[in-house]
Amino acid sequence: MRTLPLLAGFAFISVTAGSRRPAKRHYSTHNYYVLEHDPSHGVSVEDAANALGAEVIEPAGELKNHWLLRSQISDNVLDALHDLKVTGRRKRDARILATSIKSLDAQTPRQRHKRGVLPVKRATIAAHDGQSLARNVAERFGINDPLFPEQWHLVNDDHPEHMMNVTPVWEMGFTGEGVISALVDDGLEYESEDLAENFDAAGSHDFNDHVDLPKPRLWDDHHGTRCAGQIAAVKNGACGIGVAYKSKVAGIRILSGAISDVDEATAMNFGYQKTSIYSCSWGPPDDGRSMDAPSHLIQKAIVNGIQNGRGGKGSIFVFASGNGAFYGDQCNFDGYTNSIYSVTVGAIDHKGVQPYYSEGCAANMVVAYSSGEDKNKAIVTTDMGKNACTHVHGGTSAAAPNAVGVFALALSARPELSWRDIQHLAVKTAQLVNAGDKDWQLTAGGQPFSYKYGFGKLDAYEFVKAAQKWTLVKPQAWVEMSAVQLNNGTMTVNGTTSGGIQINKSGVRSSMEIMEGDLKGHNFETLEHVTVTVWISHSVRGDVEVEIVSPNGIPSVLASKRPSDRDPNGFQGWRFMSVKHWGENPVGNWTIQVSDQGKEDRVGHFIGWKMSLWGSAIDASKATTYQLSFADRMGFPPPHPSELATLSPPTATQTKSYAKPTVVSTHIVDLEAETPTISLTTPTATISPSVEPSAGFGTWTFNDGFADAILHMLRQTWVLAILGGFVIFAIAGGATLIYRRRVSRESRGEYTAVADEEAVLMRSTGAEGSTTNLGRQDRHERGDDEGDDDAGDEHAPQGSLLNNGYAVEFHSGFLEDDENTGTPRYHDEPPHRTDGADSV
Ligand SMILES: *[C@@H]1O[C@H](CO)[C@@H](O)[C@H](O)[C@H]1NC(C)=O
Ligand SMILES: *[C@@H]1O[C@H](CO)[C@@H](O)[C@H](O)[C@H]1NC(C)=O
Ligand SMILES: *[C@@H]1O[C@H](CO)[C@@H](O)[C@H](O)[C@H]1NC(C)=O
Ligand SMILES: *[C@@H]1O[C@H](CO)[C@@H](O)[C@H](O)[C@H]1NC(C)=O
Repeated sequence: MRTLPLLAGFAFISVTAGSRRPAKRHYSTHNYYVLEHDPSHGVSVEDAANALGAEVIEPAGELKNHWLLRSQISDNVLDALHDLKVTGRRKRDARILATSIKSLDAQTPRQRHKRGVLPVKRATIAAHDGQSLARNVAERFGINDPLFPEQWHLVNDDHPEHMMNVTPVWEMGFTGEGVISALVDDGLEYESEDLAENFDAAGSHDFNDHVDLPKPRLWDDHHGTRCAGQIAAVKNGACGIGVAYKSKVAGIRILSGAISDVDEATAMNFGYQKTSIYSCSWGPPDDGRSMDAPSHLIQKAIVNGIQNGRGGKGSIFVFASGNGAFYGDQCNFDGYTNSIYSVTVGAIDHKGVQPYYSEGCAANMVVAYSSGEDKNKAIVTTDMGKNACTHVHGGTSAAAPNAVGVFALALSARPELSWRDIQHLAVKTAQLVNAGDKDWQLTAGGQPFSYKYGFGKLDAYEFVKAAQKWTLVKPQAWVEMSAVQLNNGTMTVNGTTSGGIQINKSGVRSSMEIMEGDLKGHNFETLEHVTVTVWISHSVRGDVEVEIVSPNGIPSVLASKRPSDRDPNGFQGWRFMSVKHWGENPVGNWTIQVSDQGKEDRVGHFIGWKMSLWGSAIDASKATTYQLSFADRMGFPPPHPSELATLSPPTATQTKSYAKPTVVSTHIVDLEAETPTISLTTPTATISPSVEPSAGFGTWTFNDGFADAILHMLRQTWVLAILGGFVIFAIAGGATLIYRRRVSRESRGEYTAVADEEAVLMRSTGAEGSTTNLGRQDRHERGDDEGDDDAGDEHAPQGSLLNNGYAVEFHSGFLEDDENTGTPRYHDEPPHRTDGADSV
């Protein structure tokens, strides 16, 4: 067979080099496809590709029997496949060729979104005298990194109870040695003196510019470097140090331009035998109206990482919960953060308070320290540049890497911990914060859980101590209950529905009973995650609230109201997740309740739902390997497995794609002056939530939590809300001017501590023509029009508004996003809204 030497060659390369380098993509001249090949028919993948008029480029990442194909842009390979199938009805050769092609997935480049960096006032670097604790620690560990005393997340002199609590772990001798974390992000400044020594080149790759090393190239490519510094900044007298300062970091650059799903799938498994942890501070836009999940191909890569990464112990995927809390966004509307395979990390600030941006949800596992409202207490870390540092890193983007650092410390103590051991340890060792917060509720096992804080804050010492004596969990087991159909409800793959029960204010309920036998029959012992998939039609998706109550009366709010979400398509097999039932006995009746605002002109139907339990096996020897299915995304009731064989999975183009290059959350806050800020949330909708707790059915504390946060914002802000759109517009535009005008920097010793806009300045002055424009051109080429910075250039008439000396942190204006997604843009929204969004 012709494929044999080729396959052997690949196997050889991947064994020796660890990570095979993906070929450069040429999206402007070629179409790309992923072909899932069934070799059992004796047809080589080349022959299959030839029959489609395509050529085989390389294996698709680490996915077995998946190949990347390309054709000339003028050739339509999907049509060729159709023709092949038609011919196959008459001709045996064609039939065999066609059956050797299990699936064919066209690849379209899309932009992935960083978790928006948050607005923080530029901190002046004041001398911090008398920081005794930090000084003691520095002396004990021989730390002479000049910014170490300001890294309060490591040593918090003002609030010693609020820090990652890493120093006792260093004391135990664990500093992350032998562990590699990959920053799946916008680049990594491997030439930084603060990172060079801990950089892992073999596990790094640039999927945007198709080169081996993840050099930050755009003016705003500082995100990955900052996150990397938190994890592994070297203890060497430069800037500060990382949580696991002897661990290594790799950079996988995917956020600096559009990439296709196969690139993302490859990135998520890149170097996955040596790299233990994937730090992901990005996802669908946190705008309170997006709802998006990884495509089937990417899900396959994630499952592949879990099952085969790290020699089968599983890659550890850490995701930032999201920065959209003040838009009413929740991490259960993001298919990365609500995946059972990721550790979702929210944020708390230097006083342990939930910051206004940090998203909560039932899938939120823990929180870690990050920025809050105090401008001088953001995260101090390495920055883009050879010897640059920043004082303004923050958001859940910075919480996740702090967690990654803790996991790296734990893995250096116990390398054999599986991906689920890490989750168990996070659940078990998380510490209560703000005990008085009404968001805390007890789980069935008596452990506090909160949507805002998950099981609590991550504590490095508690985590590593517990890891040392942890008994490894048995393999995963799961029970997938069959779907419940309500009043003959159906939904086609395109969302057309019939039947179902009309949703109202007091809620439609449905129950499902889990029997002892369901568990035993599936080798299922103890519960970890619960996933609930729903099919709901609704004219205004943001009105819908979903809650599930366990047999022990423990409620999990899965969806709370999202005032900005006006999507008319409802939930078409959307999967929610809860960790709140961890360890609970699942036997008995589980009841789901779906309700809305009860407004006459905004109606919907609850069509059906299903539930799956995930946990550990009774008998490890009988454990099986989970096979990913796409049945739930194919309409309701889900097709039978036999029927599924004839269907292809929904691709990124069938599901909703991400918005084009734009900001995750452009939120402008003038924190010091306490002048009004902008919220996209309708004041009336948030100040007086019209949700009434349904009698005897739990309470919507989740909602209260958000209302609090939003109210807090609105108190300072809503006066200007009407002008919101205008101001955002102006600031997004004018910020570009600021970046060009401000030339000031403060030096501190050998290292220059630069605030954000200054860091940008140093790079962009003179160089911006070459770097930034390249990025833009690239996006235009791919049909993504209007790169984010363009918005600024075109609408920059109000520079004077901006002469306030604050670092306005942004990735772009959100004014023009979603052009390609078919969802309404802000200015298309109904005219009765009076908040800032409308005037945009
Ligand atoms: C569902 O459909 C079946 C047959 O199509 C019918 O007999 C039954 O009454 C329907 N049930 C409801 C609740 O409408
Ligand atoms: C949706 O699918 C159904 C059946 O699958 C079809 O009858 C209907 O025309 C489709 N609607 C749209 C808008 O595509
Ligand atoms: C809401 O819908 C449920 C289920 O159809 C029904 O039992 C309940 O009476 C309705 N409540 C109101 C106020 O209409
Ligand atoms: C669950 O609900 C069903 C139907 O409402 C009922 O017959 C059954 O007894 C309940 N089971 C338990 C354990 O409460």
